[in-house]
Amino acid sequence: MPLISMKPMLAAAREQGYAVGAFNIVDYLSARAVIQAAERLDAPVIIQTSVKTVKFWGQAAIVSWLKQLAQDSKIPVALHLDHCKDVEFIQQCIDAGWTSVMIDASSLPYEENLAVSEEVVRRASSAGVGVEAELGEIGGVEEDIVVDEADAHLADPAKAIAFCERMPLAVFAPAIGTAHGVYKGEPRIAFDRLETISRAVSTPLALHGGTGLTDDVFKRCIALGCAKVNISTQIKHVFIDSFVQYHLEKKEYEPLKPLGAQLEAIEREMAEHIVRFGGEGRASKDAPRYQ
Ligand code: 13P
Repeated sequence: MPLISMKPMLAAAREQGYAVGAFNIVDYLSARAVIQAAERLDAPVIIQTSVKTVKFWGQAAIVSWLKQLAQDSKIPVALHLDHCKDVEFIQQCIDAGWTSVMIDASSLPYEENLAVSEEVVRRASSAGVGVEAELGEIGGVEEDIVVDEADAHLADPAKAIAFCERMPLAVFAPAIGTAHGVYKGEPRIAFDRLETISRAVSTPLALHGGTGLTDDVFKRCIALGCAKVNISTQIKHVFIDSFVQYHLEKKEYEPLKPLGAQLEAIEREMAEHIVRFGGEGRASKDAPRYQ
């Protein structure tokens, strides 16, 4: 099927109490591995790209891979631009064929964050593209965006609720104590804030910093309205480790063999996440209601 917006996907997920896995791919192979995993499990899936990955490959290449992969598969696939601070870059991705985008104006003062996010919603809506926005600042490193622990701060629930009421977001990302990258200690998740926000608004919520969280944290956050769970660091680790390990063990110079090992490892590990988030079997159940 053609690429679709994540908006109806996430509305259905929030309503039904599961989350759609949103996986940061780095190339064609990783995109294919994730889509194969989702297809095997009959799950909707979000393929997301960092700005850095888009700049590395170019917009046209990424859109052509994803259009073809989505077209060849039976499950709904959304192509999402992860954390982007630049409205013009977002516009270029919308024009190129991304079906969802994230405006990350979280480092700006509240009113400015609202104004920039609203402008992106206005531009995206006319193209049928879903929008994610962030409030508070999620710590850690996500490609070119580095937020020191000292600068990371949690979303204020009253402001978060007002934010969601102000514009029709596909998904809202409140900072609740998770972080991008590898956790150094146990993250302290503000479940109370998440609960206050999710009780007040029906907007699906996004859980960032998925790598390294426990099953219990996933379960609680999904029950509290998180309908999109982001996984990036783990894909990067599996991508590198599976290739290197294959070569170290086999000492072969036939590139398609370690690439096959990479494909298999990413597919296997991301499939585990899809099951963990409750996505298995949801594509054929929910896709008919996406219109
Ligand atoms: P991780 O790198 O911790 O998996 O977080 C991914 C993420 O939230 C991307 O926006």
